[in-house]
Amino acid sequence: MMGLGKGSMGMKTRIWLGMALLMCGGLVRAVDGPALYETHCAKCHGATGQADSWRGYLFFSRDFSSAKWQAARTDEEILEKIDQGPRIMPPYKDKLSAEERAALVKVVRSFGRQP
Ligand code: HEC
Repeated sequence: MMGLGKGSMGMKTRIWLGMALLMCGGLVRAVDGPALYETHCAKCHGATGQADSWRGYLFFSRDFSSAKWQAARTDEEILEKIDQGPRIMPPYKDKLSAEERAALVKVVRSFGRQP
């Protein structure tokens, strides 16, 4: 690890550095698209994006796994929907960070690649 040889630093410095590294790791892991989807979206859109839940049927959510739907939407449009929340869906622009919403676009896209 870049010049952090043993003995070049005091024990305290090394512990502090280790903690700082752990915190960075935590921040990176904080944007976990699938977990965000699970928390915010699955209740309406279903765990696999197919709206196979009672809410999905009730609110006529789209089937994100459909190739037709995937082809009809650009990433920008998907992000726009997440930001604004069409119909009964709540808007997420102020609830989630840009990174989180971008991660969710990827999750929605990944449903189209299911066999
Ligand atoms: C309260 C239920 C509900 C929740 C929660 C919800 N949605 Fe929706 N969503 C809907 C409904 C209803 C629509 C409009 C019908 C449709 O187009 O599927 C919709 C539409 C969408 C669309 C646009 C579909 C299209 O082609 O116009 C996207 C993308 C989407 N939701 C993604 C998400 C994501 C990502 C989350 C989580 C951050 C989420 N939704 C949370 C109910 C919900």
